[in-house]
Amino acid sequence: MSAEARYRALKGMKDVLPPDIHLWQKIETAFREVFGAYGFQEIRTPVAESTDIFVRSIGETTDIVEKEMYTFEDKAGRSLSLRPEGTASVVRSFVENRLFNLPSPQKFYYMGPMFRYERPQSGRYRQFYQTGVEAFGSPQPEMDAEVIAMLGRLLGSIGLPELVFQVNSIGCENCRPGYKEKLLAFFGNRLEGLCADCARRYRQNPLRILDCKVPGCVELRQGAPKITDHLCADCRSHFEGLQRLLDLLGLSYAVNPDMVRGLDYYTRTTFEVTSGSLGAQNAVAAGGRYDRLVREFGGPETPAVGFAIGMERIVELLHQSAGAVVPAPDIFIASMGGEAGKQSFLLAQQIRDRGLWAERGDPAASLKSQMRRADRIAARHVFIIGEEELRSGIVRWKRLADSSQGEVALSDAAESAVRLRGDSLSS
Ligand code: HAM
Repeated sequence: MSAEARYRALKGMKDVLPPDIHLWQKIETAFREVFGAYGFQEIRTPVAESTDIFVRSIGETTDIVEKEMYTFEDKAGRSLSLRPEGTASVVRSFVENRLFNLPSPQKFYYMGPMFRYERPQSGRYRQFYQTGVEAFGSPQPEMDAEVIAMLGRLLGSIGLPELVFQVNSIGCENCRPGYKEKLLAFFGNRLEGLCADCARRYRQNPLRILDCKVPGCVELRQGAPKITDHLCADCRSHFEGLQRLLDLLGLSYAVNPDMVRGLDYYTRTTFEVTSGSLGAQNAVAAGGRYDRLVREFGGPETPAVGFAIGMERIVELLHQSAGAVVPAPDIFIASMGGEAGKQSFLLAQQIRDRGLWAERGDPAASLKSQMRRADRIAARHVFIIGEEELRSGIVRWKRLADSSQGEVALSDAAESAVRLRGDSLSS
């Protein structure tokens, strides 16, 4: 019988199903362990916020705010947006809940869906998941280095290969305006050659021209002044301090003065991790320092730094390098007939009470078809309960990987399941 789905997920949004979900959970578990070691605690903020929060922080003339937000009015006529990223919401929460009164630094992580109305392509979705962190309270480059080192540890904990770390400093309110003037002067007599987006960026935020991927713009910006040559003394010493610390930790990275990021809140450090195996959407994680944002949200002067990892992209990379991890039942109970079926139902419960994964065959089906099912779901062991077993109180077991078998007392079968699992894990 052929069936056609009547409804489909929205464009750019997708289900995460088994076996993929196991990979996601494995990553999340590994990440939480790393967060524990660095003292980052979880924070969960709503997926929708007042639109203002994103406009004011990410920036009115950024691609995200101009083109990519899911913005709508609620029934009371308030403008809400689905969060396109996590930083603005965490800063809102930090200020609203007066978390600045707690001992500094305050370090948070979050895992959850973000929403951007982008043109979907491989690695780019309209609903995507980020794991992000935000550390509040330290202006020192040690915090930038700690956060970058933790990002390395996170990606290392799941065995991701061949990642490139790039760092930059985009200065502060003292040195960036002077640098912008230099860029305006440089691009001023090259305007003809810029793409339409960059012509607009020239007026709104000329730094973004440095980030453009259009070949003509890449060509045109050869010889453009570098931000790293125009930092004020404080920003320069912060950036040099960061590099010394990264060297001390033995992290390999490249300084990329063209890496300016697409969000307006950054000050000083920006960084990005890319992978050579991902095609056009190759940024696996990115972040930076934002020393003014808490103040702009009404809190006290509080320097901060953070990053976010694109989860779909690292799942894709893990697929490429390892393949999925599919969990399998520890025990499959095949039973024949009504009374045996009842015993298998009880035994499954007793085995699950012990924390093992038990599945049952259909007692009305043949032993052969139940064994076939055990094989398909890759059960480790099968218990077989038929009339004979009920009479003798002895249950046969079989290990599917090597066809070894044996017998155990039905009354002791749940405990035997625990032992069998232990044996198969240690063999
Ligand atoms: P972002 O660079 O906009 O930064 O996003 C971080 C990461 O999210 C990207 O490197 C990418 O892996 C992933 N990502 C972004 N957009 C998409 C998409 N449409 N589909 C799939 N993955 C995507 C931020 O969001 C900042 N809040 C990071 C931060 C935290 N900075 C300071 N603290």
